[in-house]
Amino acid sequence: MASTKNREYSVSSIFLCLTCLILIGLLTCEKVDGQVKFACDVGKNPALGGYKFCNTSLSWEDRVADLVSSLTLQEKIGNLGDLAVEVSRLGIPKYGWWSEALHGVSNVGRGATNFSDLIPGATSFPMPILTAASFNTSLFQAIGRVVSTEARAMYNVGLAGLTYWSPNINIFRDPRWGRGQETPGEDPLLASKYATGYVKGLQQTDDPRSDKLKVAACCKHYTAYDLDSWKDVDRLTFNAVVTEQDLYDTFQPPFKSCVVDGNVASVMCSYNQINGKPSCADPDLLKGVIRGKWKLNGYIVSDCDSVEVLYKNQHYTSTPEEAAAKSILAGLDLDCGSYLSEYTQGAIDNGLVDEASINTAVSNNFALLMRLGFFDGDPAKQPYGNLGPTDVCTTEHQELAREAARQGIVLLKNNEESLPLDSQTIKSLAVIGPNANATSVMIGNYAGIPCKYTTPLEGLTALVPTNYVPGCADVQCANAEIDEATKIAASADATVIIVGASLDIEAESRDRDNILLPGQQQLLVTEVAIASKGPVILVIMSGGGMDVSFAKTNDKIKSILWVGYPGEAGGAAIADVIFGSHNPSGRLPITWYPQSYVNKVPMTTMNMRADPATGYPGRSYRFYTGEVVYPFGYGMSFSGVKQKIVKAPQLVSIPLAENHVCRSSQCKSLELAEEHCQNLAFDIHLEVKNTGEMNSKHTVLLFFSPPNMHNAPQKQLVGFEKVHIAGKSKAQVRFNVDICKDLSVVDELGNRVVPLGQHLLHVGDLKHALSVSI
Ligand SMILES: *[C@@H]1O[C@H](CO)[C@@H](O)[C@H](O)[C@H]1NC(C)=O
Ligand SMILES: *[C@@H]1O[C@H](CO)[C@@H](O)[C@H](O)[C@H]1NC(C)=O
Ligand SMILES: *[C@@H]1O[C@H](CO)[C@@H](O)[C@H](O)[C@H]1NC(C)=O
Ligand SMILES: *[C@@H]1O[C@H](CO)[C@@H](O)[C@H](O)[C@H]1NC(C)=O
Repeated sequence: MASTKNREYSVSSIFLCLTCLILIGLLTCEKVDGQVKFACDVGKNPALGGYKFCNTSLSWEDRVADLVSSLTLQEKIGNLGDLAVEVSRLGIPKYGWWSEALHGVSNVGRGATNFSDLIPGATSFPMPILTAASFNTSLFQAIGRVVSTEARAMYNVGLAGLTYWSPNINIFRDPRWGRGQETPGEDPLLASKYATGYVKGLQQTDDPRSDKLKVAACCKHYTAYDLDSWKDVDRLTFNAVVTEQDLYDTFQPPFKSCVVDGNVASVMCSYNQINGKPSCADPDLLKGVIRGKWKLNGYIVSDCDSVEVLYKNQHYTSTPEEAAAKSILAGLDLDCGSYLSEYTQGAIDNGLVDEASINTAVSNNFALLMRLGFFDGDPAKQPYGNLGPTDVCTTEHQELAREAARQGIVLLKNNEESLPLDSQTIKSLAVIGPNANATSVMIGNYAGIPCKYTTPLEGLTALVPTNYVPGCADVQCANAEIDEATKIAASADATVIIVGASLDIEAESRDRDNILLPGQQQLLVTEVAIASKGPVILVIMSGGGMDVSFAKTNDKIKSILWVGYPGEAGGAAIADVIFGSHNPSGRLPITWYPQSYVNKVPMTTMNMRADPATGYPGRSYRFYTGEVVYPFGYGMSFSGVKQKIVKAPQLVSIPLAENHVCRSSQCKSLELAEEHCQNLAFDIHLEVKNTGEMNSKHTVLLFFSPPNMHNAPQKQLVGFEKVHIAGKSKAQVRFNVDICKDLSVVDELGNRVVPLGQHLLHVGDLKHALSVSI
């Protein structure tokens, strides 16, 4: 099957990448021809002006209805796949739906987004796992805005599509998952805020009365998808066994926020099954939840070839036609792949699906293209029509890429205040490690071609004289080359060792077996630490957490930084932190577990909650109580910080109607849906003091521990706020806590309830008891 080869993939090497792109090119004959694609080109063909669907004074509903009624069944079926067919008699060009923009405009996908001499590259931001570590919601949106500006600019010169299948907002449930780097981490609230912020930045519907889009985003992969390839388990056939409680407590919230708060234009259903049903063929999950409950205004797309997977891999249906019918009836509008184009006619002929369902699906797809202005004629005359090559890779955009990396970088250890180094006193710096001069490793997967790279070595060399030895041939580091490395460390004033992973270790279709530093990296680090004359700074470039217990306890290793995959300007940002022109404020968006954790826990066990009966330890900071290497939310700065709770209530009560059942009987918790639970909020005032001299940013994390009932999380993030604080000064931070939304938990049936009784609020080490009563 041709399209199987085009399955949504990431590539582990440039070689493979080129091979795939050439394959895609050959298989689909899709060439980037530099022609901007749009329908209703009245300038070229004045007759089109007479069509209602081209008339911009009419509503989209009317225009879509007119268009759909003008198409033959065959033409409609041709618009169910990502390579939508041309309808030349109506002046509609073919359209490639599949473009990607996970952290910058990408050339992955077959939606004809590509680079050329005209626009040779686009700004490549850090991988989302590092951006999430900034805990800065304005940053999430600012990045989205830049990416959509560059995407529109590329569209205007025929180098890009308008529909982007980003962001990836699955919960990073297990540290081994190869795609965890694409996500905002393990916490549902952080993932929700990331989803909403990034989507709003991409779509930029500035005018609230209009639902026009700058570009269309897509939240993926719905739902409970977070396993690619582990032992003999494959994502295409994996059945995620998920409790209703975990589903609505952990896996669904980012998607709900994305649709309800972010107004996303699209949701992508995942390959896996959930409790025996493939998500792309589950009417409850698609029609029922996404459209019914959350009211998606947009289209539902399948992960690439997942309609085919229903039949071929999962044997969920007995014929291809049945796979086509089941997915359309479940609420799927667009197939990434060619299965719907090929088998929908047969499905109709066999009476498995009716034409009305096809009309609904294509209407959703066309409505979205209308909101993007695709049917409004020449894009040059529309909003964003002025964007072009000079709006891509601007100094400002590249500076934001550097700023994003700086804001995300996490300082994990800093004994004896060894960092920041002083560029005036360091006369020689040893720079060692397989990622010390990283280029493409820094931009991870679903990347494009960056404007340029600043490698860590280049970033550091710009500030002080350096000596560089890689120490390993590659990140796998089968044989550490210790002698050269220890030699330069022994004579340098300080040593920076940059190790970690790459797409060869963790990637799509590549989950890890162990979470230690790859190969002989640990040996290299330990030997270099022994030999070093000056302080040793360990820098870990990775998406997933690493068990670096050995380095945490090694006194020669004074400082540890985690830098995610920091994007095109990553090296400059690393140097900014090491030499103190930026005071680090990033916090881990994931728990860093010890290796023993993955030895004990099968990746396939979806349960978030611990099970004392079996010794299963549970997952994420919300449920796991075992030993960690570094906890979720951890991160230091160069400044001392003192937090104080200035004002918070000790008692809040929820007014109930006279005849409410909980007035006469003892209720442990209240159902959320009820009327009385609207807009009950209170403020918490905090004071944060920077006790150091340096200006700093500080991330305030507010958690709560609910009363012990309904297997509730031991601790859960309620809100977060990042603030600037000048040296030796204070900042005020206020959280508005909505009792019913923020202090609720999900019960065993998947319903949100507010537990009554004593809640505990936490800020750092501070605790504040709050009683919630009726
Ligand atoms: C993208 O551009 C490169 C170089 O310009 C070209 O070789 C490749 O075929 C293009 N890919 C697609 C999908 O058009
Ligand atoms: C577009 O629709 C408006 C409103 O119905 C109508 O007045 C106008 O004549 C239409 N334009 C064309 C070119 O048909
Ligand atoms: C570091 O990487 C850059 C970019 O690939 C390359 O130009 C440079 O030669 C490398 N430096 C060393 C010392 O290998
Ligand atoms: C959050 O990010 C935005 C965008 O980069 C930036 O302007 C703002 O200063 C950041 N906030 C803090 C407290 O660092």
